[in-house]
Amino acid sequence: MASADQLKALLKSHLEGDDGRFFSVAMQVAAHEAKLGHGKLAEELRALIDQAKARRGLPPQSGEKAIPISRPRGDLANLLTVSYPKLRLGEMVLDDALANQLNRIIREQRQASKILAHGLSPRRKLLLMGPPGTGKTMTASVLAGELGLPLFQVRLDGLITKYMGETAAKLRQVFDATDRTRGVYFFDEFDAIGSQRGLANDVGEIRRVLNSFLQMIEQDESHSLIVAATNHPEILDHALFRRFDDVLHYELPDEAHIAAMLKTRLGEMAAKGVSWKRLANTAVGLSYAEVTRASDETLKEALIEGHQEITEEDIRRTLNERQQILKRLKSR
Ligand SMILES: Nc1ncnc2c1ncn2[C@@H]1O[C@H](COP(=O)(O)OP(=O)(O)O)[C@@H](O)[C@H]1O
Ligand SMILES: [Mg+2]
Repeated sequence: MASADQLKALLKSHLEGDDGRFFSVAMQVAAHEAKLGHGKLAEELRALIDQAKARRGLPPQSGEKAIPISRPRGDLANLLTVSYPKLRLGEMVLDDALANQLNRIIREQRQASKILAHGLSPRRKLLLMGPPGTGKTMTASVLAGELGLPLFQVRLDGLITKYMGETAAKLRQVFDATDRTRGVYFFDEFDAIGSQRGLANDVGEIRRVLNSFLQMIEQDESHSLIVAATNHPEILDHALFRRFDDVLHYELPDEAHIAAMLKTRLGEMAAKGVSWKRLANTAVGLSYAEVTRASDETLKEALIEGHQEITEEDIRRTLNERQQILKRLKSR
């Protein structure tokens, strides 16, 4: 909350018609909330201030937070897709270990200049491993959102070609970009870098491409975040872990996490007496993505049917559907 002094200053400047002062105190309130970790509220306040200023024909004040629009050009346009996610860490359901790791990364990045001034470096080369649907891609968005950085998704389809030399040259271009434009560079399912079309059987070639990728990570001296994710940690050589500043392990949600997910997504519309615990018990084995999907399906059905409430049975049905689909996929 704003301090008493800030409230008084706001009122006073408003009553005196001192717009300049009013906006500057309002920005202080937003900054104060941001410091308290109320990122969403801070952002809403800043947006309100910018809107009000725009209406008066004034330039936006939150310029310090504004991200320069940087669209990849030329060849890079085929290799990188840029976006500006607004996602926050609070929107993820995480176990304590992961939450601590991510918080530490974000804190170190926010204080990067202090850390660098002492000859140390903030964590920024990250390896995310774990089964599909556990939040690896979401994490890349959250890091960009929390740090106000652009997210550059590296497009493997643009990167991987038949010719190893070509792939390496393209990788080089991506790593040149990390130096030029600070951002979160996300290599999703990067283990595919080694599996080039047409070379699938040549193990030596595969190793070499993957190795040159890892070398480029190691040699990168930019201030960007380099985030590599894989669903197949078992195929990775343990020696590569040391090239990263941090290795994050993602796992399927346990019952408590599933219950928390269901409750946040469906709590508002749920009928009295819905047992999240009972539901979570039937959903064990599903990923976060699958639980999210089931929740959304339940909501959609309720909307279509015009129901005001969602019952435990409604939720159980969509969760069971997901379990069935999973079972069929596994038995193939
Ligand atoms: N830990 C999580 N907390 C909340 N939602 C999650 C989490 N993990 C996944 N989701 C939901 O599932 C979707 C897909 O997850 P994603 O990040 O693409 O998984 P992965 O990259 O590990 O395969 C996300 O967009 C989000 O809606
Ligand atoms: Mg993913």
